[in-house]
Amino acid sequence: MKEAIVAANWKMNKTVAESTDFAQNLTKKILKLTGVELILCPPFTSLFPVWEILKNTAVGVGAQNMFFEESGAFTGEISAAMLLSAGCRYVILGHSERRHVFHEPDELIKKKIDVALQANLRPIICVGEKIEERNANQTADVIRRQYESTFAGMSMEDARRCIIAYEPVWAIGTGLTATPQQAAEAHALIRDLLADQYDRALADTMPILYGGSVKPANAQELITAKGIDGFLIGGASLVEDKFVSIAEIVEKNLEK
Ligand code: PGA
Repeated sequence: MKEAIVAANWKMNKTVAESTDFAQNLTKKILKLTGVELILCPPFTSLFPVWEILKNTAVGVGAQNMFFEESGAFTGEISAAMLLSAGCRYVILGHSERRHVFHEPDELIKKKIDVALQANLRPIICVGEKIEERNANQTADVIRRQYESTFAGMSMEDARRCIIAYEPVWAIGTGLTATPQQAAEAHALIRDLLADQYDRALADTMPILYGGSVKPANAQELITAKGIDGFLIGGASLVEDKFVSIAEIVEKNLEK
């Protein structure tokens, strides 16, 4: 069955107490959501306490970043084993804030993705163009470059465990959203690249999420666009009611 995923990227928001309050409240509200996988990606400090609350529920916990080395003198970094030990099953890699604020190049992101897969963490791999790239008609080139770097040499088995998030950089945290058509075009391009490298079945079943100013008011329109399997949500995921109502909208559209 095709996966539908709604993931919360809290970025650098929420203390431990705020995170655990959210997780507690969420457990009361998600009981009737069955077909959608929910994933919370809190800051590192909240991973373990949030997992302790959610471990007996269907809600998964993911990290927002990871380093590729196993251990050693890498001040400020965190390893795959540490994330696993805190209950994580997912890790966001290649988020545009990592790419553009912290200048992470494609090669670094690729190393992290490979190590996450080896460690049995499912990577949520973000791709997307900047506004100047869209305006210069380079959207497809940028997505292709990020795709190629991500999947170079990757086995079919590993590719099957990846989740992709198409997040146009100009839509993140700006209140601007891609139109359903712009999102559908990007998702179709990614699926064509997957079908060329692997096969159509893998391309069609890979969960490809949209991210960029998703909120309850635009989720319905976006989820009905072709090829959108859910969302990676920043700002709106910080508020339980908004996060839950977006998940409910995705669930209602499951068999589109
Ligand atoms: P946003 O962030 O929903 O606040 O635009 C999305 C993201 O960065 O993943």
